[in-house]
Amino acid sequence: MSDFNMGQFPTTRLRRLRMKEFSRRMISENNLSVNDLIWPLFVCEGSDVVEKINSMPGVSRYSINNILKELETAVKLKIPAVALFPQIDSALKDESGSQAIDENNLICRTIKSIKKNFPDLGVICDVALDPFTSHGHDGLIVNDIVDNDATLEILEKQALVQAHAGCDIIAPSDMMDGRVGRIRSMLEKNNFHNTLILSYAAKYASKFYGPFRDAISSSGNLKGGSKSTYQMDIANSDEALREIALDIKEGADMVMIKPGMPYLDIIQRVKTEFNIPTFAYQVSGEYSMIKGAIDNNWLDSKVIKESLLSFKRAGADGILTYFAKEIAEELNNE
Ligand code: PBG
Repeated sequence: MSDFNMGQFPTTRLRRLRMKEFSRRMISENNLSVNDLIWPLFVCEGSDVVEKINSMPGVSRYSINNILKELETAVKLKIPAVALFPQIDSALKDESGSQAIDENNLICRTIKSIKKNFPDLGVICDVALDPFTSHGHDGLIVNDIVDNDATLEILEKQALVQAHAGCDIIAPSDMMDGRVGRIRSMLEKNNFHNTLILSYAAKYASKFYGPFRDAISSSGNLKGGSKSTYQMDIANSDEALREIALDIKEGADMVMIKPGMPYLDIIQRVKTEFNIPTFAYQVSGEYSMIKGAIDNNWLDSKVIKESLLSFKRAGADGILTYFAKEIAEELNNE
């Protein structure tokens, strides 16, 4: 910072600008808007189902017909996009996650009915095998390890069935090497030139995903208990930049950092280095910590907005958050 900007007391008093509401508003540097929000939703089989998720107070799984009701609200609130996660019946899970490439699987049926009812709402779908595998890993297990190249074969097919169903944004969250490139060329080959890829580029092997694994019922079966042979070491920062650089080269339109708040430093580095649309995922564990504290009256609910604004300050262009609906309601009433 140059001397010119530094100022000196008492000619400079930073509190002058803070004295009145109008001037606080005038100099506000960052802003949270409904356009920044992506709403993750859990879908399950059945009809008229709403199932509470114990470790995520206020979040439920919905059958397709009930998801449509939620989306009616989302569209009214002008939330630009939703991210869908399926809870697959355990009877349909197997070692190779074969449901993932079934064009009539739960996720594809959900995409189709959303697109039929709300064609303008952005639909984002995860590409990874964990909701579909009996062992709960994101890839195929060969000789006791999650096999990178064998997994790529399935992931590109999974992305293709989702694109066929009408998914706007394919979001690979599996962290296999080379998956963005393979998915991009599969999409090009099949004339899905405009299907977007939002890569979970810097995804850490985090314990903050615990409640999500309950939500899609994959926690009980996670063999070995850890995804650290493919998700990133929580201690690393430079490596995130390598991940992002590769994904951009391979054809990602947008990148994501995940989890969110514990990794604001990564968001800032990525945005500064690459200047590419950058998203943050405020994951299930972050949600549950905040929501649990609010429900117990340990924190004021205004912390939700404070947490989301922190992502904007760090440089994120948008945020996946389970608070999307309630914050959009608040923003629309301002
Ligand atoms: C699946 C996936 C996970 C999340 C999003 N996609 C969990 C994981 O990798 O184990 C976590 C989202 C959340 O915690 O809210 N690969």
